[in-house]
Amino acid sequence: MSLHNEPFQDAINKIALKTLMEHRRSIKPSDFSDQRVKDSVVWEMLSNANWAPTHGMTEPWRFFVFADAARLRLGKRLAEIYLQVTPADDVKTAKADKLKANAEQSSHLIVIAMKRQESEKIPEIEEVEAVACAVQNLHLTATAFGIGGYWSSGNAICSNELRDELGLGSKDRVLGLFYIGYPKGEWPQGNRAPIEDKVVWKTA
Ligand SMILES: Cc1cc2nc3c(=O)[nH]c(=O)nc-3n(C[C@H](O)[C@H](O)[C@H](O)COP(=O)(O)O)c2cc1C
Repeated sequence: MSLHNEPFQDAINKIALKTLMEHRRSIKPSDFSDQRVKDSVVWEMLSNANWAPTHGMTEPWRFFVFADAARLRLGKRLAEIYLQVTPADDVKTAKADKLKANAEQSSHLIVIAMKRQESEKIPEIEEVEAVACAVQNLHLTATAFGIGGYWSSGNAICSNELRDELGLGSKDRVLGLFYIGYPKGEWPQGNRAPIEDKVVWKTA
């Protein structure tokens, strides 16, 4: 077995990789066209997500894909859950409506979840981190296919109600909803403060 990865290095276009990362953008359902994403492309996104790093090989990422009528049903259910879990004084009807509209405007909805290890040996935060890595793989793959995606959290999506309805256990967590669709307009520009502001580099 070779300890070197030259064969892979040749296959990886460094400029394409950088371009992909820089162009990954969060694009919201209101900016999607009504073009449906092919299920085979969604599977490609999911199978790349599966290559995320994982401490102890727990592979804690779980995805629940909702397409077609199922996505509309989920949108309606999330609106109900929002009204149920939000303290009465804080309820904004527009938020419930948005959960329904987001579902209608998306091609597929992917619930992002973390399956807790039975023994709980690996710290929970590391399992959440592994799922976030999987989502990044998924999002980068979407970008490569010209598909817009957006990780949405919030109290209805990350609720125990949704977790239970998906058949997850009490130690498992819903970490968000990933909306996907083709953008109808220009691909948005990103913005980041310089990396030098976020790095401490010591040599002695
Ligand atoms: C864990 C996580 C949860 C997020 N939840 C929301 C959300 O609930 N609402 C929202 O508008 N954006 C959410 N985002 C997306 C961010 O708004 C987005 O990444 C940020 O604006 C930077 O834009 P970019 O992804 O295009 O670089 C979330 C991102 C992450 C990583």
